[in-house]
Amino acid sequence: MPDRVLDRAFFESLDEDDPLAPFRAEFLLPPGKIYLDGNSLGAMPKRAQEIVNITLLQEWGSELIESWNSADWFHLPQRLGDKTAKLIGADAGEVVVTDSVSINLFKVLCAAIKMRQERSVIVMEAGNFPTDAYITQGLVKLLDRGLHIRYVEKDEIMDAIDPDVAVVSLSNVHYKTGHILNMQDITAKAHATGALTIWDLCHSAGAMPVDLNACSADFAVGCTYKYLNGGPGSPAFVYVARRHQEIAEQPLYGWWGHADPFAFEPEYRRGEGISQMLSGTQAVLSLAVLEAGLDIALRADLNDLREKSMRLGDLFIKLVEQCCAQHDFILESPRLSGDRGSQVSISHKQGYAVMQALIARGVIGDFRAPDILRFGFTPLYTQYSDIWDTVEALKSVMDKDEWQQDSFQTRHFVT
Ligand SMILES: Cc1ncc(COP(=O)(O)O)c(C=O)c1O
Repeated sequence: MPDRVLDRAFFESLDEDDPLAPFRAEFLLPPGKIYLDGNSLGAMPKRAQEIVNITLLQEWGSELIESWNSADWFHLPQRLGDKTAKLIGADAGEVVVTDSVSINLFKVLCAAIKMRQERSVIVMEAGNFPTDAYITQGLVKLLDRGLHIRYVEKDEIMDAIDPDVAVVSLSNVHYKTGHILNMQDITAKAHATGALTIWDLCHSAGAMPVDLNACSADFAVGCTYKYLNGGPGSPAFVYVARRHQEIAEQPLYGWWGHADPFAFEPEYRRGEGISQMLSGTQAVLSLAVLEAGLDIALRADLNDLREKSMRLGDLFIKLVEQCCAQHDFILESPRLSGDRGSQVSISHKQGYAVMQALIARGVIGDFRAPDILRFGFTPLYTQYSDIWDTVEALKSVMDKDEWQQDSFQTRHFVT
């Protein structure tokens, strides 16, 4: 970062030179708001509206059930999977979009554990997103065969991978702090000891270059409602490396994963390739809408995206430390941009109320218990000047004790 006095004009000049700036116009962004929560729910691509209209009125409304063929609804999971694959370093035929992250994690965990029957340990990072732990705990209980989860801190992961380990199941980028785990090195260590890897890409897909195949990753899952801007609850993706597709088998047999769904055979026969990761009928509206977000991401240069995201984060950290030094914020994300995903988290004892006060000022971030304020930067639509304005707002909230207002103390269900 240039060593110069930071002022708004400097941030505006960065916006002017930003090669990604034109993408902002492709999103519906309400005036008067600064949206820094794309790490939770991405903003709406304007084309989503058009797709909804086509899917609802032209397809469902007019062509009714024929749309399964005429609009090829049935193969949306594979078609969108092939598009997603390009964003995460996978090949066509290695990814499908279907179900939720939680369900897909269950499927690939089952497949991976079965491929390492003789081993008994699953390595996970302590404090990973809870659904990853819950799904694993549920499966361990269901299988009831002496499996156990080894929870370790991020710096202990490499040492925790030994010949007892069946599966190493980790998030590429941590949901709370944004720290990045080295997918290449961890996967290599897992393979050297005979273990398999599952990567949760929720906070990296669409936010930075990811190269599953270059890392020889085995399995991956991820959501599409964050940096891929697929919409609330949009379906997740699941990746199975082609070399495992013959052997890896998920247990949620459903007719969409059958080799010949419309033969309606009494016995399950596994579909070919990645298709067997499907189970039942998919949410066509949500799948269709997701294409708008994927198509935007596919046109962006992921290296530009990463460079901007790192710079946004660096500038945010620098400004907060410069303008709010007396307000006891603690940086919870890595200071080095290369170790950090596309968010910066800071903690404060009154974090919840502070975030509510910011939201009242039109700056939308979020809060994660017990005390973390998360600011997500989506390089496709976050501007450099947003960083300046956000820190100005934060400074006012703190300098004027705005967060102390009663209305900011009550916890909403969703934080
Ligand atoms: C790392 C991680 N995994 C999983 C999820 C959510 O999974 P699901 O889409 O099944 O709710 C999130 C949601 O924020 C997440 O951050």
